[in-house]
Amino acid sequence: MRKLTAFFLSILLTKLSLAAGPHEGLDCLGCHDPHYAKAQKIFKVKNDKYINPRTGKKPQDINALCLGCHNLTEFGGAGVKPIYLHMTHPVGIKPNPKIAKVPEKLLRKGILQCVSCHDPHPSNPNWKYLRVDTKGGSQVGVFCMTCHPAKVDTKYYGVESIKIFTSMNEEAGKGEFSLDDPNLVIFNLTPEYIKPLGDYPNSLAPAYTIVPNQPWFYSPAPENIPPELKNLIKKK
Ligand code: HEC
Ligand code: HEC
Ligand code: HEC
Ligand code: HEC
Repeated sequence: MRKLTAFFLSILLTKLSLAAGPHEGLDCLGCHDPHYAKAQKIFKVKNDKYINPRTGKKPQDINALCLGCHNLTEFGGAGVKPIYLHMTHPVGIKPNPKIAKVPEKLLRKGILQCVSCHDPHPSNPNWKYLRVDTKGGSQVGVFCMTCHPAKVDTKYYGVESIKIFTSMNEEAGKGEFSLDDPNLVIFNLTPEYIKPLGDYPNSLAPAYTIVPNQPWFYSPAPENIPPELKNLIKKK
């Protein structure tokens, strides 16, 4: 039985890895809603429940968009590949320069956000939508080198300069740019005027096709959920 499950799982995984990238299935409308948006840049979803344990505040800006899907529904997400801020690389903070030498351009409003490390647009060919090509995840050190260069043996990877992927400059087109290239644009400032009229639950667009919306198997066991998150579930 277990063998059989493993067999089907391996078929499923091959299928998934053949797909160009899972955000394609969102068909733009998963993240952007032309008429019923919840936040800046006509973002469709927003997590305004989960507290970032590092800052004690709710997720802000882009982090609130990503966590609108990438968290369990009871924590304000849509149950898709949930990540949990209490066990995630710091985000939502102003970097301490002794710990990380973050290129200014990768910050958004001076803050490290999900988009400092990921460009989530379907045109990004990199593994896990990272901003740096890691050769399919086999050279993650090259990515970490962007901000922690003193820790990486550059000779090992044979890499001298980092190229950053961005899709945010239509004039230059999608692609990889060196850090000093003026065409490297990570975001463009636009006014934040969108004020949702009601508290609609976060949902995936109808166009969302490739991967079923299901609770992920690595959701934590109830006894492993930190107390502050347990309270959040109880309040519901
Ligand atoms: C997984 C979520 C996601 C999907 C899917 C997505 N976007 Fe975006 N989009 C973003 C984020 C995040 C930003 C803003 C990044 C920032 O401001 O730092 C953005 C910004 C934009 C912008 C504004 C660019 C700017 O410079 O302000 C446009 C236009 C856009 N997206 C178009 C699209 C189109 C077209 C598609 C479908 C092909 C798409 N997006 C799919 C997340 C997404
Ligand atoms: C509308 C929902 C939605 C939003 C918003 C969203 N994602 Fe996703 N994301 C998905 C789905 C669906 C998948 C595919 C899950 C799977 O593999 O089954 C995914 C997968 C991913 C993956 C894994 C890609 C891979 O190749 O395995 C990364 C990384 C990711 N998202 C990052 C982000 C970041 C960063 C943001 C915010 C800028 C974001 N996502 C916003 C729905 C979303
Ligand atoms: C410091 C860089 C960094 C930041 C900041 C970051 N990520 Fe990631 N993320 C990664 C790396 C590296 C991976 C691939 C390794 C892995 O899967 O753990 C990844 C993987 C992922 C995945 C895929 C997990 C899987 O199992 O396939 C998702 C979803 C994701 N990130 C979402 C987010 C969201 C949402 C945020 C913001 C709240 C965020 N990331 C912020 C570096 C980062
Ligand atoms: C876009 C920049 C960026 C990238 C890429 C990046 N980091 Fe970081 N990293 C930071 C920032 C900013 C901090 C937090 C500094 C602070 O505490 O102010 C940090 C903190 C850390 C910490 C300390 C965590 C803590 O709790 O204090 C570790 C460990 C770390 N990073 C490892 C990694 C690894 C491993 C990678 C590659 C997978 C990576 N980072 C990629 C910017 C980055």
